[in-house]
Amino acid sequence: MPDLLPIHFAPLQGYTDAVYRQAHARIFGGIDTYYTPFVRVEHGEIRRKDIRELEPENNRNVPLVPQLIAPDTEKLEQIMSLFIAKGFTCADINLGCPFPLLAKRHNGSGMLPYPDEVRQLLEFAVSRYPQIRFSVKMRLGWENPEESLALLPLLNELPLSHIILHPRLGKQQYKGSVDLAAFEAFYDGCRHPLFYNGDLLTVADIRSVALRFPRLAGIVIGRGLLANPALAAEYRQGEPLSADEKGEKLRRFHAELFSQYGNLLQGGDLQLLNKMKTVWEYLLPNADRKARKAIHKATRLDTYQTAVNQLLRG
Ligand SMILES: Cc1cc2nc3c(=O)[nH]c(=O)nc-3n(C[C@H](O)[C@H](O)[C@H](O)COP(=O)(O)O)c2cc1C
Repeated sequence: MPDLLPIHFAPLQGYTDAVYRQAHARIFGGIDTYYTPFVRVEHGEIRRKDIRELEPENNRNVPLVPQLIAPDTEKLEQIMSLFIAKGFTCADINLGCPFPLLAKRHNGSGMLPYPDEVRQLLEFAVSRYPQIRFSVKMRLGWENPEESLALLPLLNELPLSHIILHPRLGKQQYKGSVDLAAFEAFYDGCRHPLFYNGDLLTVADIRSVALRFPRLAGIVIGRGLLANPALAAEYRQGEPLSADEKGEKLRRFHAELFSQYGNLLQGGDLQLLNKMKTVWEYLLPNADRKARKAIHKATRLDTYQTAVNQLLRG
């Protein structure tokens, strides 16, 4: 069997929060590193919720790299001060976010067409914080894949721990397919450990990308893990979990999320119900359609729980 690659859990704003990460690590595991969804400066401030999400006591037994998104060095500095105050020694810089509101202000993949700005931001980061290991999570470009290739000489000369590349363009958002030929062009020229990210849903998908790109340093998975939280563990052990084990873990995972979100959210039943429904936006997409529909239609916690029990009964 070929060597196993490290699997990292991609950051997903609104989904992979501290409660989710801790429950996932404890119950399913198989992940080498989790990333926080990006932390940003909004109206001069960092959201209190984002700060709470970084606290070590909310991330016990979770190998965690915090991620930041910033259009300039001042904002990066503000966020880095927080990361350092919380004791982190690694940080990931987001150059991939495609959300138009952020991208048009040169955040995330919106900065990729401006190599001078990327240079300024990254050179500042690595020289101002030599004690921190920086990684970059990026897309191919905003408008075309030449943008990432044009950045390669700069990226290669910076002391980065690794690069994560999601081979789509910012302007595509999540539409269309990943561009493996463009990934390959970047892979060929990249001198840093490179991680592949995008559209991997099964163990076979992971193996096929690992086979095609044998020098990959790892794999980063987002939605595939939200859909099947056992995916990384299954890749690691080389076979699927038995139906019984998977059912038991899913029931524990759900119970843990329900109870922890219940403790955390102070907005009453409806807030908890809505939070749990976001979990089901991606979880088990191929489960019984009627049962999934009943979950999304539930307007009270008791009908919600009945629908979940129905679905997870096994
Ligand atoms: C709802 C949602 C939220 C996301 N939030 C972040 C984020 O905070 N930081 C980031 O780098 N990427 C974010 N992403 C991108 C994912 O990390 C990942 O790069 C993308 O979903 C492709 O990988 P996948 O096909 O394995 O999900 C987000 C994606 C989605 C769908």
